[in-house]
Formats: sequence, structure tokens, C-alpha cells
Amino acid sequence: MFLEEDFWSTWIQSIPVLELSRGRRFRPELKEAFFEYLGLSRHAKVLDVGCGPGTFTRYLARYVEPPGLIWGVDKDRVFVDYARRKAEEEGISGYVKYAVADALALPFDEGTFDAVMSYTLIEHVPDPEALVREMIRVCEPGGTVSVMGVLAVEPKFKPPQDSLDRRIEELFRKLQRAIEPLKEKHHVGRGLPIERVPELFDRLGLKEIRISGFYTPFCIDDARYPREERERMLLEEFTKPIEDFVLKLLKAFPDRFREGSPACAEAEELLRLIWVRHKRRLRELRAGVKRWEIQENPSLIVSGRK
Ligand SMILES: C[S@@+](CC[C@H](N)C(=O)[O-])C[C@H]1O[C@@H](n2cnc3c(N)ncnc32)[C@H](O)[C@@H]1O
Repeated sequence: MFLEEDFWSTWIQSIPVLELSRGRRFRPELKEAFFEYLGLSRHAKVLDVGCGPGTFTRYLARYVEPPGLIWGVDKDRVFVDYARRKAEEEGISGYVKYAVADALALPFDEGTFDAVMSYTLIEHVPDPEALVREMIRVCEPGGTVSVMGVLAVEPKFKPPQDSLDRRIEELFRKLQRAIEPLKEKHHVGRGLPIERVPELFDRLGLKEIRISGFYTPFCIDDARYPREERERMLLEEFTKPIEDFVLKLLKAFPDRFREGSPACAEAEELLRLIWVRHKRRLRELRAGVKRWEIQENPSLIVSGRK
């Protein structure tokens, strides 16, 4: 459970959480923008660094084809095994490949790829400069290196929370403290904010640096999603991840969450409350009640030519 190789998928974001959220962000209508900004072409050799469960690599595989080649690398073996399995299932494994690798020591020769990119990785690596140097190294001269990430913007309007939401948030935050040392050890959120990437690209000698982006707000009441999809998102993204997290905590820290201890009581309270909220939201969804809560994740793309 404390293995290096499944840290992210165990403690930070599970496969369904990344697949669902990224699946919504990489919309088909953005294809042209990605091609333009990331320097892609139909037969490009592409590398996605820190690819997670491979959502973006499979998105690209719809538009890049052999002799083009797509590689995804990630430190988390659970993600890489899943991504490989999905590529097999989708019949694209001949040109979509994965490897377990550290982004700071990429297992590729100099100049292997036409386009090298990452999405929400630089924010989490201990040495962002080493990451970009590695991305530049494996990119061919004239190729494009791009770093993408989510901009930190404060929404002007926050949907009102009731006492149930507030209590769930309070308990969840408290329990999260138990894994703070682990997050620190793995540099979660301790790398470089995306806003500072252009300066780094400039310093490392990338040319024609361009700042672009994509914006794919999410609202569960959006007419894009059929009812079953909404129910699945509610369960897999909003309720199950909290339940899984609490159950893993109880198992991983038996002394801290001893039966009868205040910490254990709080964990049990949270487990109960998330299902109270889940049932309430499910009833609302089924009755057609809309909340129109919008989650915003504007993404910045910084790209440069080697
Ligand atoms: C926020 S997730 C993003 C995953 C994927 N890019 C996506 O958007 O779905 C960050 C990913 O970076 C990976 N990661 C963190 N540090 C890494 C490193 N040094 N080398 C390779 N992967 C790393 C994690 O395992 C995780 O999959």
C-alpha cells in the first residue's frame, strides 16, 4: 500500500476519477487546437509524459496513425498496466505503447519524438527544470515540447453549501492530514505552477514559445450527459473516491484509527454522511432537479520549438 509504484492511483486519483474527468476535458472538438498547439500531425511520433491511465494517449490515437507512434510513460504501474490493457482492447496497441518510467530520466534516445507533452505533471515533480530538460532531450530538433496544466483561478461565484456538505468537507479535510507526509514525500502539488512554465522554457532555450489553452467547464446537469452517465459520475467521482480513501486510511493506519478512538469515529461519520448525500443527490437527479453547479478547469498550454 505504500509502494512507490502505485502511490498516485492509490492515494491521489484513481483510474475512474482520472478517466472521467480527463475524458470530459479532451473533447473531440478540440482536436484541431491540440494539433496546432502541440505540433502534431497524422504520422507524428508523440510522447505523453506522466500519462496516468492513458486517457490523452487514447484520445490522440483517434487522430494519429501508423507509421505515427504514441508513447505514454508514468511512474504508477497500476496506470500503465491499465493503459496497456485498454490499448489492447481497442486494437491500437501496435502504435500506442506504454512504459513505467520516471519523467526525470526518460528511457528514450535523444531526438526520438516529434512532439513531447505532459498534462498536470510539472506541478508534482521535485525538479521541474530536470523534467523540461528531459522532454527537450527526447524531442527531435524542430519538434515541439509542450507542458499543459490547470490554471489556478478563483471562481467569482461559489455554489452555496448546506450543513451536510460543510461537515463532509470538514471531516474529509481532517482525514486528509493523515497522508500529508506521503504527499510531501511524493511532491504532490509541490512542483512548478503552470503559470511559471513560459519563463522556464525561455531559460532552457526553447524557441517560438506560445501560450495557448483550452477550457472545458463541467456541469453534471449538462444536456451532454444521459441520466446513467450522471449517476455513474456521481458514484465514481464524488462518492466512491471518498469512501475508498477512508477505507484505505483505516487499513493503512490501524494505530491512528483504533476502534473507539475519536479519529475512527470521525472516519465512520464521514462514511455515513457521504452516502446520505449520495442518496439525496441521486433522488434529485432522478426527479430532474437541477443545481447548475459549474466546475471550472481552464487549462494552459505552453509550447516551444526545440
Ligand atoms: C495529475 S496526474 C495526471 C495524469 C494524466 N496526465 C492525466 O491528466 O490524466 C499526475 C500523474 O503524474 C505521474 N507522475 C508524478 N510524478 C512522476 C514522475 N516523476 N515520473 C512519471 N510520472 C509521474 C503520476 O503517477 C500521475 O499519473
